[in-house]
Amino acid sequence: MDFSLSEEHLMIRDAARDFAKTELLPGVIERDTHQKFPHEQVKKMGELGFLGMMVDPQYGGGGMDTTSYVLAMEEISKIDASASVVMSVNNSLVCYGLQAYGTEEQKQKYLTRLATGASIGAFCLSEPEAGSDATSQKTTAIDKGDHYVLNGTKNWITNGGTADYYLVIAQTDKEKGHKGINALIVEKGWDGFEIGPKEDKLGIRGSDTHSLIFNDVKVPKENRIGEDGFGFKFAMKTLSGGRIGIAAQALGIASGAYELAREYSKVRKAFGTEICNHQAIAFKLADMHTSITAARHLIMKAAWDKDSGNNYDMSGAMAKLYASQVAMDVTVEAVQVHGGNGYVKEYHVERLMRDAKITQIYEGTSEIQKIVISRGLLRD
Ligand code: CAA
Repeated sequence: MDFSLSEEHLMIRDAARDFAKTELLPGVIERDTHQKFPHEQVKKMGELGFLGMMVDPQYGGGGMDTTSYVLAMEEISKIDASASVVMSVNNSLVCYGLQAYGTEEQKQKYLTRLATGASIGAFCLSEPEAGSDATSQKTTAIDKGDHYVLNGTKNWITNGGTADYYLVIAQTDKEKGHKGINALIVEKGWDGFEIGPKEDKLGIRGSDTHSLIFNDVKVPKENRIGEDGFGFKFAMKTLSGGRIGIAAQALGIASGAYELAREYSKVRKAFGTEICNHQAIAFKLADMHTSITAARHLIMKAAWDKDSGNNYDMSGAMAKLYASQVAMDVTVEAVQVHGGNGYVKEYHVERLMRDAKITQIYEGTSEIQKIVISRGLLRD
């Protein structure tokens, strides 16, 4: 067993680290405070290849493996989790979904633009009553021969206002349950497609979260992904990979907070010495580093499973479940290490603590991850 990273992996990690420090760090507090989407920075992420990392180069992507992707996600998330969720949704839900299940025409028309960041994508599954219970879709896509007519509302959609293309999951035939669901590609600006108000969130405030309203939106049949009724499985398969990306985001939030706490503890003095010399603080750092390392190993295993062609439903769910708990625990402790300074924006850790919480909620709550894991364990 070899735990070392290749030269190429190290280069990708370092490129993401440099980008995060030079391009994302300046202005990150302001963007969080005023809920400003990082337009300029996301454009540069596209130019550098961070928005379509795993897409085949013939469609404009980087042709990289999942390990490269999680390394980059961690580095970007250490500094700006709002930027990294844009990256995560575009890479693992939208680009992956189209690359794995789209037609050649869909790939040429949509994936080539999404992979380069020329266009941004959104993944639209959640509804007021179908966040966790994903088969209970109320949004309908009624078959009208050569097109579908889409009606309903989606909630909490990442990139909701900024995206150009939306993968919308909707019920075509209620009688068929999850086998009556379809995934459709919808373009911004189509008649009847309205973007609802932006959500005012606890964390990842620089990201753009909206509800979406569909009123008799006509979607051509060629924009359906996969066979009729494949939409639910499309969502589940896509989310399984997405969870590895969100686990890496959680890891980045945790390791970003840990690094800030460690550096702070080496300069802040109390009771005549730097606070890292007090076991009360040193032991916190030891616990943080241990749990971060364990989370990283789970994530690398899930990435390896995906790249090796193994089933990664369980390993991805375990990685997300654990890493998101670590993100919560470590960021709370990082604020504690900073004392009063931890509670003010300038020191970054309070933002990381707020950002951490969403990793236990989106792309399946922690409870959903436990359903996936326990069903996997008890299957045979
Ligand atoms: N891969 C392939 N097929 C899968 C699958 C997977 N990972 N998971 C389930 N399926 C299949 C099952 O095999 C079954 O098919 P058959 O009937 O042919 O055997 C079918 O799908 C239905 O499966 P279940 O009976 O297990 O479905 P369920 O209703 O019990 O739900 C669930 C399972 C795991 C709870 C699922 O509903 C789920 O994952 N919910 C959470 C959804 C979620 O993550 N929402 C987040 C929104 S997206 C987001 O957050 C993006 C963002 O903005 C950042």
